[in-house]
Amino acid sequence: MGFSDYVLYRVAKNWPSPMAKLVRELNAEPGTEAYDMAYAQRQFDWKVRHGMLREVTGLDVLEIGAGHGGISCFMAAVGARSVVGIDLNTKHLEFARRFAKLVSARYSSDYELPVTFVEMSADRMTFPDEQFDLVLADNVFEHFADPEAVMRDAYRVLRPGGGLLVPVFSSILSKYGFHLKHGLKLPWVHLFFSERTIIRVMRRLAKTDPKLFELYPGLADNPQRVRDLRRYKDLNDITYRKFKAMAMRVGFSIESFSPFGTRLGKVVQRIPPLRNSRIMDILSTGASAYLRKPAKASTVGTEQPTSIEHQIA
Ligand SMILES: C[S@@+](CC[C@H](N)C(=O)[O-])C[C@H]1O[C@@H](n2cnc3c(N)ncnc32)[C@H](O)[C@@H]1O
Repeated sequence: MGFSDYVLYRVAKNWPSPMAKLVRELNAEPGTEAYDMAYAQRQFDWKVRHGMLREVTGLDVLEIGAGHGGISCFMAAVGARSVVGIDLNTKHLEFARRFAKLVSARYSSDYELPVTFVEMSADRMTFPDEQFDLVLADNVFEHFADPEAVMRDAYRVLRPGGGLLVPVFSSILSKYGFHLKHGLKLPWVHLFFSERTIIRVMRRLAKTDPKLFELYPGLADNPQRVRDLRRYKDLNDITYRKFKAMAMRVGFSIESFSPFGTRLGKVVQRIPPLRNSRIMDILSTGASAYLRKPAKASTVGTEQPTSIEHQIA
């Protein structure tokens, strides 16, 4: 074990968990059914109501990477005309269907929320063109193997004038961009340590905390990159700049884009030359975006977009 491995291991061992507050609130162990249920319920009750969702009444909505389904169910419950949630993870989909039944039963025994969950990849959707008014993608853009293909497909299935809402996604450079809130727990670890060191230390931590093998199954194999630790190797290298450039290539106009600044990030956000720089990626926990398909839609990829700086206030 080299010096940097030793330092990182010692610090990680003593670092407080950034998940502690959420785990306390949900009152369940991560990775258990009780945790998933409490998480979906929390999404349903709280997350969306706190300013992350625009008006959905009467809209046909698609949620991509719907996970445990809390947000899809919420949108169906607050008046969307129809909601379809897609995901690749069959366990998540089964859970989401059960959750929808539970929520429906709260209204009356024979009521069914207008929500369905379908197994489908967001980069190869089989829906016809111009089927939805709103596409929602929460906490997923950093997980798609081909995020630009997902954006292209979202553009295709949106009606002209419709929007792609991304309440949160995180840059690989952001505070927890490596998604190692369990085990290593440290923020900005990618700035100070190599991926090889991070992987070696995660493997060492797992020896005394076997739960990490369930949360990061790749630990048991021969991981080369941090993304290999994840069950589906689903962590891409997206940054805010790449995201905006993709959106413009696809033909969206960027109606809003706001990083969630850390304390220092909030200061940096006020400095125009730094606002769109990599420093903002580093000094943030994530970002939200709303992309609009023009009312008179151009053919995907043929539009001549204006510069990023011009589009982002
Ligand atoms: C971090 S979870 C977020 C789930 C949910 N949106 C939330 O906020 O709780 C990412 C989800 O994206 C799904 N996913 C990853 N790649 C996908 C793809 N190509 N098509 C559909 N879903 C995908 C995963 O299966 C997983 O359920």
